[in-house]
Amino acid sequence: MDERTDTSSPPTREPLIEFTGVKKRFGPKVIYEDATLSIYPGETITILGGSGTGKSVLIKMLIGLLRADAGSIKAFGHEVTTMNEAQLLSVRTRIAMLFQSGALFDSLTVEQNIKYPLREHAWGTDAQMKARVEEVLEMVGMPGSQKLKPAELSGGMRKRVGLARAIAIQPEVILYDEPTTGLDPVNVRRINGLILSLQAKLGVTSIVVTHDMDSCFTVTDRIAMLYDKRIAFVGTADETETCTIPYVREFIRGGRGVLSEDVT
Ligand SMILES: Nc1ncnc2c1ncn2[C@@H]1O[C@H](COP(=O)(O)OP(=O)(O)OP(=O)(O)O)[C@@H](O)[C@H]1O
Ligand SMILES: [Mg+2]
Repeated sequence: MDERTDTSSPPTREPLIEFTGVKKRFGPKVIYEDATLSIYPGETITILGGSGTGKSVLIKMLIGLLRADAGSIKAFGHEVTTMNEAQLLSVRTRIAMLFQSGALFDSLTVEQNIKYPLREHAWGTDAQMKARVEEVLEMVGMPGSQKLKPAELSGGMRKRVGLARAIAIQPEVILYDEPTTGLDPVNVRRINGLILSLQAKLGVTSIVVTHDMDSCFTVTDRIAMLYDKRIAFVGTADETETCTIPYVREFIRGGRGVLSEDVT
């Protein structure tokens, strides 16, 4: 079986997002020689790969925070790689990203942080925005924290506020960059539950970058594995068992925790 052939996706559905032959390098450092991946409406796909292999870069290219050097990236049928900033802004109303770092504005309160994208996209009246802030803080398990500043929050709390901000504008696609890293088990379960319920109740499409294999198996429909500067494998968790690339099998099997980067 050719690992790059996507055998698990229903043939009748059009991809919502398509990376085709994407190349990316930073100076002499090649990150992608050929990133090719299709993502279907309503699915949750997990991106796995060693540290520094380009997981964050991949999802940043999708919303134009980083530009691909070559190849095509399509979202909702539109080519992202050639969009101007105004066009990218409109893509970002439909695709929200939870940044690995949380990426909150330090000088703003939790409420102001969550309102920021709501304002940017003219989401509603002040009262509607206030109600939405309350609602999403509830969803991430931080009710009543509106007036706090990021400096008063723990790393895990900052991450959850970042998630509240990402889901506030009711995006169709959510990019989660390590959503459970640094969280305690109760909040890991809460975030996993949230990813699942956004999919089940609202049909949200999710791209999840994680090192947490338990979370991966809990939330994901398919796995995409980065290796050798490309998407080396795409398929279900079960299909990883028969993957012909040893690194992929090793990563999944041995990956419950730390993994070795030099497995070949
Ligand atoms: N803006 C940038 N400028 C230069 N190099 C960058 C930039 N962003 C990422 N890189 C480099 O690209 C490589 C891939 O980075 P990326 O952040 O995507 O890794 P990752 O797979 O998300 O790793 P981790 O699991 O540690 O988060 C790294 O070597 C990183 O240093
Ligand atoms: Mg990363």
